[in-house]
Amino acid sequence: MPAPTFRVHVDADKCQGHNRCHAILPGLFDLDEMGMSHPAGDGIVPAGQLTQARLAVANCPEYAISLTEAAGERP
Ligand code: F3S
Repeated sequence: MPAPTFRVHVDADKCQGHNRCHAILPGLFDLDEMGMSHPAGDGIVPAGQLTQARLAVANCPEYAISLTEAAGERP
C-alpha cells in the first residue's frame, strides 16, 4: 500500500506572519506582500518532506497550519 499523501492548509484568519513555516519549508509556503503565508501551488507535501511539514505545523505560534490526508493524490 502506498504511503498517504498530505496537503498543508494555512488559516488566513490565524496567520500573523511569523514566517517560521517559510523558513522551514520555503518550497511549500509562499508569502504575500504583507508576509502572510499560504500554501505554494496545490499545497501537496512533496515526497520526503512530511517530517518538515509537521515541524512547520508544530512551530507556528498561531496554530494556523494544518495537514490533511489528500486521498488519491500523489506528490
Ligand atoms: Fe503564518 Fe504561522 Fe507561517 S503565523 S507565516 S502560518 S509560521
